[in-house]
Amino acid sequence: MEAFVERAKTPSAQLVMERFRLADIVSTARRLPEWAKRPARLLGARRIARLLAPQTARRAFAGLDDTTWLAVLVASIKQPVQNGVLLPGFPSAEMQIHSVGNAYEVTLAEAARFYSFVRQTYATRGEPIDARTKILDFGVGWGRIIRFFLKDTDPECLYGVDVSEQFLEAARQTGCRANLQKIEPLGSMFCYPDATFDVVYAYSVFTHLPEAVQDRWLSEIQRVLRPGGIFVATVESPRLLEQRLGLDPSDESLHPRERRLATMIATDPAIRARLIARGFTHVPQAPTYGDTLMTEEYLRSHWGAFFEVVDFIDDAKLFVQAVVSLRRPARHH
Ligand SMILES: C[S@@+](CC[C@H](N)C(=O)[O-])C[C@H]1O[C@@H](n2cnc3c(N)ncnc32)[C@H](O)[C@@H]1O
Repeated sequence: MEAFVERAKTPSAQLVMERFRLADIVSTARRLPEWAKRPARLLGARRIARLLAPQTARRAFAGLDDTTWLAVLVASIKQPVQNGVLLPGFPSAEMQIHSVGNAYEVTLAEAARFYSFVRQTYATRGEPIDARTKILDFGVGWGRIIRFFLKDTDPECLYGVDVSEQFLEAARQTGCRANLQKIEPLGSMFCYPDATFDVVYAYSVFTHLPEAVQDRWLSEIQRVLRPGGIFVATVESPRLLEQRLGLDPSDESLHPRERRLATMIATDPAIRARLIARGFTHVPQAPTYGDTLMTEEYLRSHWGAFFEVVDFIDDAKLFVQAVVSLRRPARHH
């Protein structure tokens, strides 16, 4: 059984399953008595055409509310085929924890809150996300979040970029259906023309980037976002420091990132002062990666040069990190 589930995760297995469905329907239609064939053709042409088309996540799950959709994705951890649709798999728990700090149900639940927020933000502007909405996940990792949009959007409209070939490969291997592209840490998204996307989002990515790298990507995201399109991102606010002030850096039960933050706070008490004074601080681990914090004031003035800031939510009861929603004005200044 387990071997079957493993095999069912591969795209070729899904193709075979779709062919079986098709063959089933065609042979049923052929077995109909002669007198029933003509009315079936006339009355059911649309329905039959729909049945003959391969099952997609959007077709199978479009009517679900976000809570039920999360339950389906959680069920897909053990049984990747849900309602006849092969859903994306997961890399090892180790890789999940390494990239986002938690795994499986917990990591999906965190992603689900963000997904719902992106959908609501877009819908508030007057049009819901639909099959043709073009969506870019900036820093897609192994495809944790982008799978949620399979319910609303055709896979060919889903895009993901990341600097890590290892994460992108994990996404491909586990059946992520989005268009995936590797980018350079200080590069551009030259592969996409201006105004390509309706929605761009970045979860737990700008929380790691130095200011120069942030500015590079903010301007690139502005370029590839269509006027009126939305950009939703998470950032770390001073709340991160307040919450970690009491942590013991030598506590081995802490996640490595928590230990790093605790060490950072203990060894450099000026970090907080700098953050308050300048509104932005970055503690590097590598030339283009580290821990980045910013105040709401900094975000409103600095990011406000690239986008219109719609909302800034810094509430631990709602989101682990602060969430900001932005809009590319119809005519950019
Ligand atoms: C904490 S993980 C979050 C992954 C994903 N957004 C999620 O929430 O599941 C941070 C991601 O940002 C990517 N990343 C790091 N530096 C980047 C950069 N300069 N530009 C774009 N992505 C970057 C990493 O490879 C990693 O996939």
